[in-house]
Amino acid sequence: MYADLYSAVISGIRAEIVRVEIDISNGLPGFSIVGLAGKTVRESAKRVRSAVVNSGFHWPMKKITVNLAPGDVQKYGSHFDLAIAVCLLICSKQINIKNKSKYLFAGELTLNGDINRVKGILPMLLEAKNKGIKKAVIPLENAAECNLVQNTEITFLQNLKEIDNLNNIKGSKTKIKNNTLRLNRNKIPDINSIRGQKTAKKAVMIAAAGRHNLLLVGPPGCGKTMLAHSIVKLLPLLNKEELIEVASIYSIKDKLRDLDINNRYRPFVAPHHSITSAGLIGGGKIPVPGEISLAHKGVLFLDELPEFKNKVLSNLREPLENKKIKIVRQQASFIFPADFQLITAMNPCPCGYAGLDDNRCSCSERDIARYQKKLSGALKDRIDLQIELLPLKSDDILKKNTEQQYNYLKKIEQAVLAQKDRYKDLNISYNSQLSIENIEKFCPLDSDAENILKQAVENLQLSMRGYIRLLRVARTTADLNKNKNIKSNDLLEAVNLRWYAEKSEMLL
Ligand SMILES: Nc1ncnc2c1ncn2[C@@H]1O[C@H](COP(=O)(O)OP(=O)(O)OP(=O)(O)O)[C@@H](O)[C@H]1O
Ligand SMILES: [Mg+2]
Repeated sequence: MYADLYSAVISGIRAEIVRVEIDISNGLPGFSIVGLAGKTVRESAKRVRSAVVNSGFHWPMKKITVNLAPGDVQKYGSHFDLAIAVCLLICSKQINIKNKSKYLFAGELTLNGDINRVKGILPMLLEAKNKGIKKAVIPLENAAECNLVQNTEITFLQNLKEIDNLNNIKGSKTKIKNNTLRLNRNKIPDINSIRGQKTAKKAVMIAAAGRHNLLLVGPPGCGKTMLAHSIVKLLPLLNKEELIEVASIYSIKDKLRDLDINNRYRPFVAPHHSITSAGLIGGGKIPVPGEISLAHKGVLFLDELPEFKNKVLSNLREPLENKKIKIVRQQASFIFPADFQLITAMNPCPCGYAGLDDNRCSCSERDIARYQKKLSGALKDRIDLQIELLPLKSDDILKKNTEQQYNYLKKIEQAVLAQKDRYKDLNISYNSQLSIENIEKFCPLDSDAENILKQAVENLQLSMRGYIRLLRVARTTADLNKNKNIKSNDLLEAVNLRWYAEKSEMLL
């Protein structure tokens, strides 16, 4: 007796359709799974047997062979349980499902037949839809993430027993009422509620408008973390394709509670400084995406930057350059997307008070130099905006929020549109993506601005990279100021905003 149906396996951040085949024949009773099945899949034999029996079905005392095709793709994950159990019930004629080849099955079984949530449902459903499989049976616990998949008829099950009624359940997707995820995130601060810190707020606005990387350096408690987080509400919302791409990664990591799908805010990922390389860029025997991929299309925030291990930070070079990361394993190489905007924050020295007039700093010059050196040249070179913050003045602290609410969003939206329009024939959308080949073409300067640029290059001894970064930021300030060509004011704003690398030598 033979039966087959479809499930899927995650490979990198995509899913591949897998055909689950079962043959039941006379012979010594037994159960074997073939088709490059990993340990997690082989373990399903025990779960499936108990679940089938405890859900009121019977277990055929025959020779049962399960094949997962194609045979040359590594299979892993506990989500094959449901497909194997259903296929076995069809094969042993205990249930009948009309048009079974139109369904995708995925879910993990418990020993009593309950169906547990699984990782990666969203990419599985998307791939099934691509392949013309437009019905799916998945765990009820995965219901919330299915809002992003249209035109697929999804049935949610809580227990294997319910499979009996499958032919009678129609589009139970509509029956799920409360299917939005409860979010796991802290409240995003509003930039207008941040007191003082005018320059830093401007830098955050420029960073949001041109998608520039940003470093905030300042004493403890001056608002660095708050400023960094406030960028989320300034960034353009994720469009539909981006949302699906990002949500697929979150689905694979089972982190959808960290993504605000309803508001379409870009991800803001802030890993702790004790993170390992594998945690940051992705890894594992069967590689899974790391924090940089969770920050795809959003922000990677590294708070207390010097506390991160240099070895871990050095991994960021490749994704900062290529917007993706390649992880090579013996059996295959995996490419994970990592198109993130980097925002980092640090104190200027170990005690946090270097550079202030009040002599509060207790660090030696050597301590300070050693601390600042932790920010490697390669990383520093890739951060367009490097800003110094000072402690809040008493006036700012006491001012409350009487300041006029500045409409950052409107200015940013307009600057983003200007960039999209300018780069419509290129493969880029933001000023931060301008490369050496096209930067001068898209950054025409007025003659006053030309002179300032010349002085800046000479006085600040800018490297070629420094020169490009300066022009990119000036291009964004010009866009925010609605200037077609970069004017002297736009350029000065850009020069004055950069602190950490060259400000101390600045003569302008
Ligand atoms: N400029 C500000 N406006 C309003 N609140 C602020 C400001 N700066 C700090 N705060 C308040 O102080 C708290 C600490 O700020 P935040 O964590 O952003 O400081 P930080 O510069 O990151 O400090 P640390 O170096 O210790 O990490 C915030 O939760 C916020 O409530
Ligand atoms: Mg902080």
